[in-house]
Amino acid sequence: MSGSMLRSQQRRSLGPMSKPISFARGAPSLDIIDVDGLRASADQAFTADPAGMTAYGTSVGYIPLRQWIAEWHGVDVKQVLVTNGSMQADAFLFDALVQAGDAVIVERPTYDRTLLSLRGRGADVRMVELEPDGIDVAAVERVLAAGVRPKLAHIIPNFQNPAGYTLSLSKRERLLALAREHGFTIFEDDPYVALRFEGESLPTMLSLYGDSVVYASSFSKTVCPGIRVGYLVGPEPLIARVAKIATGTYISPSMVSQGIVYQFCRSGALERSIETVKAALGERARTLSEALRREFPDARFVDPQGGYFMWVELPRGTDVDALFDAAAERGVQFVKGSDFVLDGGEASLRLAYSGVTPEEIDEGVKRLAGAYEQIRSAPAGAAA
Ligand SMILES: Cc1ncc(COP(=O)(O)O)c(C=O)c1O
Repeated sequence: MSGSMLRSQQRRSLGPMSKPISFARGAPSLDIIDVDGLRASADQAFTADPAGMTAYGTSVGYIPLRQWIAEWHGVDVKQVLVTNGSMQADAFLFDALVQAGDAVIVERPTYDRTLLSLRGRGADVRMVELEPDGIDVAAVERVLAAGVRPKLAHIIPNFQNPAGYTLSLSKRERLLALAREHGFTIFEDDPYVALRFEGESLPTMLSLYGDSVVYASSFSKTVCPGIRVGYLVGPEPLIARVAKIATGTYISPSMVSQGIVYQFCRSGALERSIETVKAALGERARTLSEALRREFPDARFVDPQGGYFMWVELPRGTDVDALFDAAAERGVQFVKGSDFVLDGGEASLRLAYSGVTPEEIDEGVKRLAGAYEQIRSAPAGAAA
């Protein structure tokens, strides 16, 4: 049977009430994106600065937005470079710092695209276990004591993708001390920092000791991903090197997107958008954890204090590949835990609650529980 016949048969078997529900995409649902605010910001951008919106611009980004970001982080403007999404910032940074064979420490699990990007460059990727209060710093010390000399340690400090965990203050300080002592750079990848819906905010490692840190963030999670605006903050000489790579790659990032984001920020729409997104995420996260407690009593997970994701560990031996297929038959998507590690992760999954309403979460977890029941009752070796 062809793929499209199979998909249309699956759609028929789902029935009209079974709308697909995706826990897979780390993106906000349309109802929490300020489309009117973006339209007004676009109008303001073209009215206030038609020449800036229509010219090539410079590789460091749209100058007023660059300045706004510098003030937001309390750094010199020369330390900032704006990019088309923070994925582009990551790629430029790796181009500047990582050669084939270089050791790079990453969290286990970590953002799958970072993992792919580093592996694609031939980096010697060293995964270090992630704990609910952040990377296991004692294990980092052991890696260093074994003689590994990393170029970078990639850390997602707040509401980590995929686990939703947050790095504690004491671990931030210990990591910075290790970076100073062993001469490596911490790549602080922080797109979720503004989205805390519970607990106290923690200082960025950039603000604690900027010399050892290159920081990346993004407007994808607070405004919308389609705008594709992210940025890097780092030591001036490194940013100047990255700017040269950016010039050779695309002359300049999109000035129109950055002009819209700039107007969105300066008009106060950004603060309002962050409040809307945080309120929705807090409710969605609570709904998801209640649904999981009800439907998956044997699952282990930590309630996130912000961000988009929850990491769910099912009992050892659970076949999440089979669960993935059985869930897809019921119109539910998630990302398998194994996508976020180099090996293992077979009994875990990432659930993104950012793109689903509380009603969809309840319905989605119910369907997922049905899929779980199906794979557990299937005879060993049978396809689910
Ligand atoms: C940790 C992390 N870094 C970077 C990105 C990429 O963000 P952007 O949309 O700005 O390219 C994501 C997106 O999911 C992410 O989770």
